[in-house]
Amino acid sequence: MKSIRMTLVAATALCGATAAYATDLEVTHWWTSGGEAAAVAEFAKAFDATGNKWVDGAIAGSGGTARPIMISRITGGDPMGATQFNHGRQAEELVEAGLMRDLSDIAEKNHWKDLVSPSSLLDSCTLDGKIYCVPVNIHSQQWLWLNNAVFTDNGMEVPTNWDEYAAAAPKLKEAGVVPLALGQQPWQTTLAFQVLLVALAGPEAYTQVFGGHDAEVAASPELAKVFQAAATAREMSQDSNIQNWNDATNMVITGKAAGQIMGDWAQGEFQVANQVAGKDYTCLPGLGVNEVIQTGGDAFYFPAVDDAEITEAQGTLAEVMMSAETQVAFNLKKGSLPVRGDVDLNAANDCMRKGLDILAKGNIIQSPDQLMSADSLTQVNDLFVEFFNTPSMTAEDAQARFVSLIEDAE
Ligand code: GAL
Repeated sequence: MKSIRMTLVAATALCGATAAYATDLEVTHWWTSGGEAAAVAEFAKAFDATGNKWVDGAIAGSGGTARPIMISRITGGDPMGATQFNHGRQAEELVEAGLMRDLSDIAEKNHWKDLVSPSSLLDSCTLDGKIYCVPVNIHSQQWLWLNNAVFTDNGMEVPTNWDEYAAAAPKLKEAGVVPLALGQQPWQTTLAFQVLLVALAGPEAYTQVFGGHDAEVAASPELAKVFQAAATAREMSQDSNIQNWNDATNMVITGKAAGQIMGDWAQGEFQVANQVAGKDYTCLPGLGVNEVIQTGGDAFYFPAVDDAEITEAQGTLAEVMMSAETQVAFNLKKGSLPVRGDVDLNAANDCMRKGLDILAKGNIIQSPDQLMSADSLTQVNDLFVEFFNTPSMTAEDAQARFVSLIEDAE
């Protein structure tokens, strides 16, 4: 398949088309929601401007669905030109198997070590001293999104933290509003839990559990309070029967639900709906309790291929994704923060400004994808999707099972 496309481009080049060696490069990712599609289009536009062609390989269903497909294509000898993964350890085995391209030459030529901030983002791309991905954004999962009118229309103040929000739930239900919108894909339930953990037990306990795999902390009374809060969140979300995270965000945008615990990619949806941060919706970092930014997010990896044109086009794409202009254009639409500390984000909205301020203060934690192996995280996801869908499972039962998962985690 690939070689046919190559010849065509060469043929086109011969008849005077733009770049002599313009190359079609298939890029796979899981960005299919309204806001995600608007953002990824900025990458496509910038890459096409180099004379090459972005061949979009979007896979619906979020990372949990897309990643196994991407991995099996690469291990099955049908690699794409470039692919999205989250910062961290998701591509670890592919890199160890020698299937991914070493980008150290590109990184050095473009001074990524000086540009990328915090440096932990580039560390997440580095294995045995070599760089295997281009980080493209900082996405923090530590956010609560609230529809202002849902509260004020029902005679309530917009909550400023988790306790006020949970206390408002009974009155919201009476008013026919779902207090908490929560999509049922497993990763979303773990996301809600770990955001509660950071807010209520603190960033240190979170890092000890997800990073240090500390079963004692996982079994502690502090964590028991977090599991109680998770049981409250389960009750608050029992009427939000949707799968996709952006459908949950849409419930908040339309006022069917009062709030959602979700990463700041939700911003892209508010933007596409022309809603204004601070006016139509409120964003509370760390549930308004512990204001931290999680340095999770997205990076692009490039399968190692024995093809000079594709290899050259991969290098061009990596450079385009790190360029100052593209970083601003992409991240403003994506709702994430740029990986470069030297770009001007004048157009950033209230929520992005809050994120930038927290980042500048250095209140950062790593994401579960950076702290835990993909296999261990999948088991944690399975536990929490079961917990959020089984009202008979007590907080104590869930905590006991979580402790044994953490004991065996890698
Ligand atoms: C995350 C990704 C985000 C966002 C989200 C929902 O893994 O880092 O960019 O798109 O999935 O699909």
